Amino acid sequence: MSTTPEASARALFTELTGAEPAGVWSSPGRVNLIGEHTDYNDGFVFPFAIEHRTFVALGTRADDRIRVASTFDSEVVEVALSDLVFPALRDEVPEWATYPLGVAWALLQGRDAVTTGVDLAIASDVPVGAGLSSSAAIEGAVASALNDTWGLGLDRVALAQIGRTAENEAVGAPTGIMDQMTSMLGRADAAIFLDCRSLDAEVVDLGFAAAGLELLVIDTQVKHSHSTGGYRERRASCELGASTMGVPALRDLTVDDLPRAEELLDDVTFRRVRHVVTEDQRVLDTVRTLREQGPEAIGDLLVASHASMRDDFEISVPELDTAVEAALSAGAVGARMTGGGFGGAAIALVAHDRAEAVRDAVTSAFTASGFHAPHIFTVTPSEGARRDS
Ligand code: GLA
Repeated sequence: MSTTPEASARALFTELTGAEPAGVWSSPGRVNLIGEHTDYNDGFVFPFAIEHRTFVALGTRADDRIRVASTFDSEVVEVALSDLVFPALRDEVPEWATYPLGVAWALLQGRDAVTTGVDLAIASDVPVGAGLSSSAAIEGAVASALNDTWGLGLDRVALAQIGRTAENEAVGAPTGIMDQMTSMLGRADAAIFLDCRSLDAEVVDLGFAAAGLELLVIDTQVKHSHSTGGYRERRASCELGASTMGVPALRDLTVDDLPRAEELLDDVTFRRVRHVVTEDQRVLDTVRTLREQGPEAIGDLLVASHASMRDDFEISVPELDTAVEAALSAGAVGARMTGGGFGGAAIALVAHDRAEAVRDAVTSAFTASGFHAPHIFTVTPSEGARRDS
């Protein structure tokens, strides 16, 4: 019999403590519809939260220690709150534990009065390493649980910022704020149009179901990590591009600045900049097109985004390109890789009556190329972090 991640988190808590949790909180993974590698350039993104969630069952302790357990790993990690120091602890605990402990550490900064110890048990059905922000889901659930338990009164944007601090400074992944904001702010059947400079967020109805569409995730099963290599290098290229162009961030350039950028920048840096500048414009165009013409009309923008990531930003892999091409050949409205790249998942927007054909075409194309079979599933835009019980 399959069990839900909420039930697993509760059961693990009881196994750990012999008691019932005081509460259960959860936060979702996300799919980014469009706007990739724009968040840390102060630009625009348009992601939505998905129904896959991470659950945290929490109970307080009589002492001042924090203990975390998860269904990812049999190891249980316990630390005194006063010893919770990052990045010093990073190499002392298993990687998964840096996420919940990093969130606790980030919340405790400047809050010496908080001394209530906690036990946390974590379970999730967000696929890990698939580009669906399993990390933001843990951060959002733990941040929400501790915020309520410790009575900190932080709002959703502040909790997203705590998650990002944990990810950047405790885990050591130099990511932007898109994933944490989406996990905190998600809404059913809607995406979040986010300005990553001001953090102004607008909820925009997607209307996929009403238009007879569904969104397929094609998890290539090629695992990626953002704490290493390519992601960091892309970020450095963007910073170099912005400083050479004399602007605080690439957000401050428009497509009209690209001819000058081409004169001033080396070829690789120019192409990185062109991706970010055109991608920001594609986010604005997607939001406008969706509002004026509906979701059927955004396909070409998704396809252009993929081409830009493949050719200019160079973060795609053959499995992602194959997924996108096969989905489009089988009649998808649009398709693109989603998330940080170097593996992970592609998305395809498809009419209900083409979904089966698209799944079959992608699976056959993977077999023909000798790739590991992809995991293909539909996602539904869903609500953000919440207390479940
Ligand atoms: C990862 C990061 C995000 C964002 C995307 C790329 O998901 O966590 O902050 O930079 O990559 O758009």
